Amino acid sequence: MNNNNSPKKNGFFHLPEIMRIYPDKPVPFRTQLAVMCTMLIISCLLFTVVFFQQKIVHGDSGAAVQISTADERSAAARSEENSTASVAPSEPSQKEKQESKQESKQESKQESKEEKVIETEASESAGELLGNMKTLDMDVAAIHAGELILVNKDYSCRYDGENVEPMGNYKTDSYLVLDYDVALAPDVTKAFNNMMDDFESQFGENDVMVACGYRSYDMQVRLFKNEQDNSDEAEQWVAPPGYSEHQTGFVLDLDLNKLEKGNGIDFDGSGDYGWLNNNCQDYGFIVRYIAGKEDITGYNEEPWHFRYVGLPHSRFITEKGITLEEYIDMLHGFTADKPLVITDSDGSRYCIYYTAVNDWNTTEVEVPADRKYTISGDNYSGFIVTAKIDE
Ligand code: DAL
Ligand code: ZN
Repeated sequence: MNNNNSPKKNGFFHLPEIMRIYPDKPVPFRTQLAVMCTMLIISCLLFTVVFFQQKIVHGDSGAAVQISTADERSAAARSEENSTASVAPSEPSQKEKQESKQESKQESKQESKEEKVIETEASESAGELLGNMKTLDMDVAAIHAGELILVNKDYSCRYDGENVEPMGNYKTDSYLVLDYDVALAPDVTKAFNNMMDDFESQFGENDVMVACGYRSYDMQVRLFKNEQDNSDEAEQWVAPPGYSEHQTGFVLDLDLNKLEKGNGIDFDGSGDYGWLNNNCQDYGFIVRYIAGKEDITGYNEEPWHFRYVGLPHSRFITEKGITLEEYIDMLHGFTADKPLVITDSDGSRYCIYYTAVNDWNTTEVEVPADRKYTISGDNYSGFIVTAKIDE
């Protein structure tokens, strides 16, 4: 039977028509096989060239940078994971690196502070860090006391000078006070001493003057009236009587001891003195009225007005760029079971949590039985516990 599809005919293997190189001529199978192998090899080579071209990434400078090793690839992946900005497909050129180095050198002191980032965690098991707990019965009136009380146009201050002493009783020589009546809570004066001693040893300046610390209600009445008589914006600068932070004893206004004084306060946080504004958080202070947050604080920016809230709160508030209002509001979301855990830049670890007032006479507040802690009221709804975890 003559079968044209038979693979062997006249001693030759016959490939199907479509696969023959010379369809009309009988070509030895070996030759056909050799031709096909050659074509296959050429195809493989072409494929390989195209494949490696895809893998090569060209940099802006024109130099080809190949991500080839596993380490480099995983480093690239890590950098992508850690970055919140979009990742460029190439390494920065040497020029770009140089420019970025120069830019970072020129960054403000405030920005360089951000290197010391406070770490926070809030896991289901964070409450275990507190260890054994006990319960305190807190009088409801105590919500108006403590270094975290919020005093603003909504919440008045209940202190009346009982917690302050003249700064002169404690002050060091690295700064001045306007007169002997300038008073603060003693712990605040001590924290301020530390800051000013460091400032003087770094810059050799000792002409910073505390112009105002604690203010009585009556003093605030006079100041407010005077401002109203002289300014259309009095309420943006001076608190109504009863609602000034100065009444807490945790606040001071800085001035400069200049012979020729202008009107008002000369301290604007410029020049060397900016160090105080940029570093006060390391000593427990915050710059309370900052630009861009006037709607929240109710006041214009005041670079001379420093509020003591203590560590680690001052560092957290400053690094997050938030106001005391926003911070207290945020803390209301943390409980003893799920506290905010802060690792400060010096390695200290704190658990911070809130307990709302739950009875109009006393409130049970859970505190750690075996750890150091402080309690502060928030001045309107409950208590904030700050416990130190690592001794
Ligand atoms: N200057 C601030 C707002 C005060 O009077 O308390
Ligand atoms: Zn002030």
